[in-house]
Amino acid sequence: MPTIKHTFIGPIRQAVTMANLPLKGALKDEQMEIISEAGILIKNDRILQIGSYWDMYPEAQSIGAEIVNLKGDFVALPGFIDCHTHICFGGSRAKDYAMRNAGKTYLEIAKSGGGIWDTVTKTRKASLEKLAQLTIQRANRHLKDGITTIEVKSGYGLSVEEELKMLKAIKSANEGIHADLIPTCLAAHIPPKDFEGTNRDYLKAIAEELFPILKEEGLANRIDAFIEDTAFMSEDIQSYFQKAKEMGFDITVHADQFYAGGSKVAVDFGAISADHLEASGEKEIAILVASDTIAVALPGASMGLGVAYTPARKLLDAGASLAIASDWNPGSAPMGDLLMQASVLGTFEKLSNAEVLAAITCRAAAALGLQDRGQLNPGMLADIILFPTSDYREITYQQGRLKPFKVFKKGIEV
Ligand code: NIG
Ligand code: FE
Repeated sequence: MPTIKHTFIGPIRQAVTMANLPLKGALKDEQMEIISEAGILIKNDRILQIGSYWDMYPEAQSIGAEIVNLKGDFVALPGFIDCHTHICFGGSRAKDYAMRNAGKTYLEIAKSGGGIWDTVTKTRKASLEKLAQLTIQRANRHLKDGITTIEVKSGYGLSVEEELKMLKAIKSANEGIHADLIPTCLAAHIPPKDFEGTNRDYLKAIAEELFPILKEEGLANRIDAFIEDTAFMSEDIQSYFQKAKEMGFDITVHADQFYAGGSKVAVDFGAISADHLEASGEKEIAILVASDTIAVALPGASMGLGVAYTPARKLLDAGASLAIASDWNPGSAPMGDLLMQASVLGTFEKLSNAEVLAAITCRAAAALGLQDRGQLNPGMLADIILFPTSDYREITYQQGRLKPFKVFKKGIEV
């Protein structure tokens, strides 16, 4: 008989459930369901019930639940979800950062041989074990900040063998930690300098040789591509995405970072998300709004590069769904502080608390196609953050400095 464990947490001054919110469009704080003096009853890894602490207390006690009795002021939120990161990498690019601040652009540095290729060289030099260990360290830092689900991309291998090494490192890291890592194959990050053939030849080789292994070994169910003139052009990516779709992969795109164009490709291929969008204009926004593709803003990349933010307010007002992710990577977004970045994007783009919090919970879950998390609701995974405050508005107000008091991942305090 499998053992059943019940846990009962409370009383919680405000449980902000993020449940029953529309997937698309602007949100007002009043739309959020907030349960005062709440209790959360957990059965194994799932939420069994959420409601009034004092109403639920007798039942929790009678079934022998372990009581996590909170003394003081706490706000509960669903575990945060970072739906776009590159935390599996070797080396540092502090030199690029200094060069950018001295006046060189990200694309100039890339063209002169630095940038992403530099990280490819360093990542190729690292062993699978070393990459797994680095990924674990970064994921555990995220977990402390309440991020219980983390998407992680490959894309610094850029050959069948090296991409496999990265994805195996991500898989191995996932097995050694509490947070869930969601792997994505970004073999189409930039054209590898050492591949003999055209960009299309490279993509064809990856699709033919790597895609089947990803399926067989369960290494990734998502295919990403960076569409930009220093990376892959819209025309080059067509058959690559076609093949990915036929094989049942979810598609996601690094789109409109410097030049618009990738968002249209994303929507044409029914991508689950289009990420970046700093260069999206009215036309691109309209295309995204008319689709089921989630727009993902990456304020950490704007901060790391010193460029404009994704037009989050315009996207939401036009009716798009907006997630926010850290893009944590050694080049454009070295900081990797999701809550700080989401909060600051909120001040620049005039986002409500509901919009910011939905973007890193329920809407981020949708960007990863995950239906079992991102809300505090019966049946959902018991991924829960407790912040030491009585007012949920303190969380964005303190712009990431208010740290979780406790984090639960699948019902376990971590
Ligand atoms: O999302 N834009 C392309 N890729 C990453 C950056 C990766 C890097 O600079 O190492 C991004 O910003
Ligand atoms: Fe990225």
